[in-house]
Amino acid sequence: MGFPIPEPYCWDTSFRTFYNIIDDEHKTLFNGIFLLAHEDTADHLNELRRCTGKHFLNEQHLMEKSQYAGFAEHKKAHDDFIHRLDTWNGDIQYAKEWLVNHIKTIDFKYKHRI
Ligand SMILES: [Fe+2]
Ligand SMILES: [Fe+2]
Repeated sequence: MGFPIPEPYCWDTSFRTFYNIIDDEHKTLFNGIFLLAHEDTADHLNELRRCTGKHFLNEQHLMEKSQYAGFAEHKKAHDDFIHRLDTWNGDIQYAKEWLVNHIKTIDFKYKHRI
């Protein structure tokens, strides 16, 4: 934990995985958290939950297809974050830090492996 949190909160090239589909989905997650930070509404939370669920499923599918060794640990991290969204307590700073650190530590591990 401890990578810089972009301000304003948006994707930049330091988050690039070099899988275009994944990078595009990550942009939607940054945007979802940005909007939720701006206004903590049910609509913004639902949209973030939708984008996040879709992205995690896609990422997990890619990992499974390539029999990626870190799959179980990675899926557990995804499940934990989904649980946080499903029991949302308004802690936007947690969400901002979670996404930044998840991409740069956990996601980056599958680069060139899936
Ligand atoms: Fe991930
Ligand atoms: Fe990801």
